[in-house]
Amino acid sequence: MSPDGAGGVGARRDRRDWSDSAHFAAQFVRSPVATASVWPSSTALARAVADAALSGCSRPDPLVVELGAGSGAFTTELARRLDRRARHLAVELNPALAHRLAERLDDVEVVPAAAAELPTLLALRGLPGARGVDVVVSGLGWSATRPGRDDSLLPVIAAALAPDGVLVQFGYTFTRWAAPARALEVELGELFDEVTTSPTVWRNLPPAIVHRAARPRG
Ligand SMILES: C[S@@+](CC[C@H](N)C(=O)[O-])C[C@H]1O[C@@H](n2cnc3c(N)ncnc32)[C@H](O)[C@@H]1O
Repeated sequence: MSPDGAGGVGARRDRRDWSDSAHFAAQFVRSPVATASVWPSSTALARAVADAALSGCSRPDPLVVELGAGSGAFTTELARRLDRRARHLAVELNPALAHRLAERLDDVEVVPAAAAELPTLLALRGLPGARGVDVVVSGLGWSATRPGRDDSLLPVIAAALAPDGVLVQFGYTFTRWAAPARALEVELGELFDEVTTSPTVWRNLPPAIVHRAARPRG
């Protein structure tokens, strides 16, 4: 029995987590390339991503944009830490995932759209105003980021960021030496003044790393 009783908050949260994960896995079966992962990221990885995204962000009301929010593994942790003080947009291509996320998190603006539309999505909302986006968290796979290619999304993200803005991108440790992963690290180094990579987060399936790229060049 959970500490708050069999039908308590903890048990309800476990049931919801399981149901979100099963729904996400069903989306992978329907659309494996775009979904890019069978299972949502773990709480441990979400914490590492939120640490990288929000450490050093001194703004009281940051503009945070998440790309590829999925079933909300990162979204939930970011929203918890931001505690309604931020403008928090979560962009998700899959309408079924976006709809479910919007129903669950009322302090996040869920945008059912493609990440490549980022400049338009911001302009339609009168964002980012004078300063630029403070934090971009990307949960996207290679099919959407397209690192090293002419149509790479990374320059689009860098252009949307504030001069002291941060991009956080996760990747799987076992694919780190594959060509797109290497192209991603090279391109981050070209586009940002400072790039750091976390140690492996072992409590994720599969184990993952978190890249933090700060201060876009130019
Ligand atoms: C690897 S999953 C990560 C989901 C979630 N952030 C997590 O870590 O559990 C990638 C997500 O990006 C979404 N996606 C794929 N291509 C996209 C695009 N072009 N624009 C926005 N979202 C996209 C997929 O539908 C999927 O939910």
